[in-house]
Amino acid sequence: MIRSVVRGVGTALPRRIMKNAEFETLVDTSDEWIVQRTGIQQRHIAADDETTASLGEAAARAALDNAGLTPDDIDLIVLATSTPNNTFPATAVEIQQRLGMRHGFAFDMQAVCSGFVYAVATADAHLRAGMARRALVIGSETFSRILDWTDRTTCVLFGDGAGAIIMEAAESEGTMADRGVLAASLRSDGCHRDKLYVDGGPSTTGTVGHLRMEGREVFKHAVGMITDVVEDSLAQGGITADDLDWFVPHQANKRIIDASAKKLGIAEDKVVVTVHLHGNTSAASVPLALGAAVADGRIQKGDLVLLEAMGGGFTWGAVLLRW
Ligand code: ACO
Repeated sequence: MIRSVVRGVGTALPRRIMKNAEFETLVDTSDEWIVQRTGIQQRHIAADDETTASLGEAAARAALDNAGLTPDDIDLIVLATSTPNNTFPATAVEIQQRLGMRHGFAFDMQAVCSGFVYAVATADAHLRAGMARRALVIGSETFSRILDWTDRTTCVLFGDGAGAIIMEAAESEGTMADRGVLAASLRSDGCHRDKLYVDGGPSTTGTVGHLRMEGREVFKHAVGMITDVVEDSLAQGGITADDLDWFVPHQANKRIIDASAKKLGIAEDKVVVTVHLHGNTSAASVPLALGAAVADGRIQKGDLVLLEAMGGGFTWGAVLLRW
């Protein structure tokens, strides 16, 4: 059978770091409030010359270097983003062009903060179906462009950045000990669409719009939805939370991460946390966290890793893989 094995990982962050204290001059907030309620201490904010495409390209090049591959070796690009450079063409196609690729195919995937988990599951399906041999799966976002910088309930939460992995179709015995994607579980429920949305778009207002969120409502649903898909992925793999080496959750809020890990019975020292450094980078948060844990040697080849995310839609999902 074919399994999708991760060959490399790379990340990219905007040059500018914005600390919580800077918000104290913009809105009625404090460093103490932000740290206490979210765990966020700083985030990176893109300059005019830093876009979803340029950050995605930089993360893609870093992942290719990490894997010892070149763009010629890739035949599929899936970009998870809710902040594309243009409504169309897909920003994935712009990244394809920036990488000098004239072959293969590329498309964007829009599932907000769950985007990267959706993209990994989608690339895995393409690889197992024989439609591609090697996929570049990217999460890249510039949420700073869609924030209402006068709304203290949202502007302090988000940041910009990108992360990417390379997935390769490989022959496998199909056992749990073999490397690759072992299970995936995706969900959505549009009845929650008004709890986290952007109040503009080409077909409604003709504007880009701003992010709007009922934070308390999102929080209320997050832990239950996350544990639902994680438990489903663990059951598909026939394992328990104890068997996991690493839990790499979407980085929206430290309190949501802690509550989910506790409910799932995952030990604190197995949880990868980067929300204090990056804020919520939506579809980029999981690959940014993965990149950090691989770079500092925590995640090693053969480790059992669980990715999860939940976001606007609502959408939510989990992927179980052996690194
Ligand atoms: N600074 C100071 N006070 C603030 C701020 C701020 N930045 N923001 C809100 N407050 C105030 C509120 O106005 C409220 O004041 P009030 O009691 O006088 O009305 C008070 O703080 C408490 O507000 P709550 O919303 O109850 O605070 P809570 O503890 O729920 O924390 C937060 C708010 C951080 C937004 C939390 O609800 C949360 O993290 N929700 C989930 C958000 C999330 O994860 N979103 C991303 C999902 S992924 C995606 O798809 C993008």
